[in-house]
Amino acid sequence: MKLSDKMKRLGIETAFQVLAKAQALEAKGMDVIHLEIGEPDFDTPKNIRDAASRALDQGYTHYCNSQGLIPLRVEVAKEFEKTRGIQVDPERVIITPGAKPIMFYSILALLQEGDEAIYPNPLFPIYESMINFTGATAVPVPLREELDFRFDIDELRSKVTPRTRLIILNSPHNPTGSVLTEADIKAIAEIAVEHDITVFSDEIYEDILYEGKHHSIASQPGMRDRTILLSGLSKTYAMTGWRLGYAMVPEALAHPIVRLISNSISCTPPFIQRAAIEALAGPQESTAQMVAEFRRRRDLIVDGLNRIPGISCVLPRGAFYVFPNVKGLGMDCNEFADYLLNEHGVAVLPGTHFGVYGDGYLRLSYATSQENIKKALERIAAAAAKLSGGARK
Ligand SMILES: Cc1ncc(COP(=O)(O)O)c(C=O)c1O
Repeated sequence: MKLSDKMKRLGIETAFQVLAKAQALEAKGMDVIHLEIGEPDFDTPKNIRDAASRALDQGYTHYCNSQGLIPLRVEVAKEFEKTRGIQVDPERVIITPGAKPIMFYSILALLQEGDEAIYPNPLFPIYESMINFTGATAVPVPLREELDFRFDIDELRSKVTPRTRLIILNSPHNPTGSVLTEADIKAIAEIAVEHDITVFSDEIYEDILYEGKHHSIASQPGMRDRTILLSGLSKTYAMTGWRLGYAMVPEALAHPIVRLISNSISCTPPFIQRAAIEALAGPQESTAQMVAEFRRRRDLIVDGLNRIPGISCVLPRGAFYVFPNVKGLGMDCNEFADYLLNEHGVAVLPGTHFGVYGDGYLRLSYATSQENIKKALERIAAAAAKLSGGARK
């Protein structure tokens, strides 16, 4: 069968491939610690589960509005107003199954051959894949360890051309856990306004933050109407499998995205949307407890990694990932990730899965128990010691 040429340009989220590899080893009897998958290991709070059951009993089981149920869109608008200080018209709110479709639809609706999109590298790989799929040019701005994996704003500015249509931001950031400062956000907003560029701001980790408060570019002067502001329930409420994402989009983008929804998935399951109203409007203690536990795990894993000769790790300020530098081990990070999994039973992702500037790093998700983290650290230390002892040279 001959596939279309553009399929060659579509990438994949490799975390799922590494998970499959790890599971194959487990099936053969190996004990594997999973640090590859980016999802909270907590249960979805009971009030949200109960709201979904009630909605099923109430018959929210049919097709519904492609853009999303109006009461949920109103709730999302209220949430953005409360957290970003912006007035949001629910007509500009879009609900999709998970946050990912909003990336897909927005990029598809906005970009084409000849356009350029600036994005941080490393980054969640779907962005680069989607930009390439549209035929537009993906223009990376490296996130460097020396800047705690934040943008060098001058470098970002130097990448802007008359063809730049989109700047992609993600803070708190996957895979490094970095967080843009208010000054960073202000400077990027000025660039976007000056050059009339749309910004896609992925804020899905907004609540998993260990210090300070979340700063959204949508709150900056002139930005509300040029920002695609993406968030969702997957991370904040441990609801990755429910599939519920939401966004505020510029007015001109709302109807094109609804058309893409109508041509693909029709709508988002309405009983999940009813549960989403409960998630946003109901008690928030579970999230606070989850973040407190993530903070303890972050401190544990960063401290442990920094004790291993050849590895150094910046303290992340958000999300639930660390991005240690493993250049000192003298082994390519892809090979080291394979070696960790195959010979030491620790599943991690090489930094290159997030872009070329991730070379020399690993991404570890600490969304697992402290006990697992301690065991993983022992295994990583043993693996690193074997390398420095020359066992694998
Ligand atoms: C930066 C970022 N955006 C979006 C997503 C996808 O979210 P969802 O599972 O709601 O589609 C992820 C998932 O890992 C992510 O890391």
